[in-house]
Amino acid sequence: MPGHRLTSRDRRRTQTMESPRTEQPRQVLPGVWELGAWLPVPGHGVLAVNSFVIQGPEPVLVETGLAALRTDWLQRLAGVIDPADLRWIWISHTDPDHLGNLAALLDIAPRAEVVTGFLGMGKMTLQGLPVDRVRLVAPGERLQLPDRELVALRPPYFDAPETLGFLDTRTRALFAADAFGALLPAPVEEAQAIPRATLRDGLLRWSALDAPWLGEMDAHAFGRKLRALEALAPSAILGGHLPAASDRTAELTGILAEAVHTQPTDVPAHELLERLAAAHSSAAQAP
Ligand SMILES: [Fe+2]
Ligand SMILES: [Fe+2]
Repeated sequence: MPGHRLTSRDRRRTQTMESPRTEQPRQVLPGVWELGAWLPVPGHGVLAVNSFVIQGPEPVLVETGLAALRTDWLQRLAGVIDPADLRWIWISHTDPDHLGNLAALLDIAPRAEVVTGFLGMGKMTLQGLPVDRVRLVAPGERLQLPDRELVALRPPYFDAPETLGFLDTRTRALFAADAFGALLPAPVEEAQAIPRATLRDGLLRWSALDAPWLGEMDAHAFGRKLRALEALAPSAILGGHLPAASDRTAELTGILAEAVHTQPTDVPAHELLERLAAAHSSAAQAP
């Protein structure tokens, strides 16, 4: 994008944060904790990177955070649960923002089995991760725990074919992996605090960036996926890239229905990155 000028919108979207950071864990549903983190996305603001702990007789960790934040993230986790007590680690897919601290966890959580699908297990092997503690699941299968079932499902969109979210039958929370993520202007504690226009803009820019194939999908076919999700009547959408969203499912699916008409998200060209870096550097030197 030669000659692309640094607009006030570009500056606004990139001056909120310059490096990833973790948040204090937050209980978002009874017995369910969100371990939040935020990642700056040049030219687009920030993206939540969430993990979750489900407490119970067989505690579950969902996703394993960013490797770049390992020390902080492990401390936050230890504030919620002794990792040695974890029984399950649910990996929705093998992207680095979901798998970042898995190897470290396997050492300090000796009872934990890793829940993933067949392709997920294959990709773990390719990354040099051990698979001797893997519990395979497929869409529609149920992981039976003493106090709940985790029903594996495919989210309405995803960026890796092994992706498996799930419905927790006890809280009826839907763990959505990359679906329902949103690029936001600044970190925010809960989805309820995001104005609708900001949420719409962020959801559509994220879905177009993370799953550009949605723009070529048949609107009726995608609508059927969204209706199927609504029929589950989730109490909350707990995704990897949006703060916990209680009672906003119809609004979220209504916005996402537009994703099939969305153009690909602009990403910064190298020249813009240089301009942003220069802008940050002069801002840092200002008295
Ligand atoms: Fe992903
Ligand atoms: Fe992700």
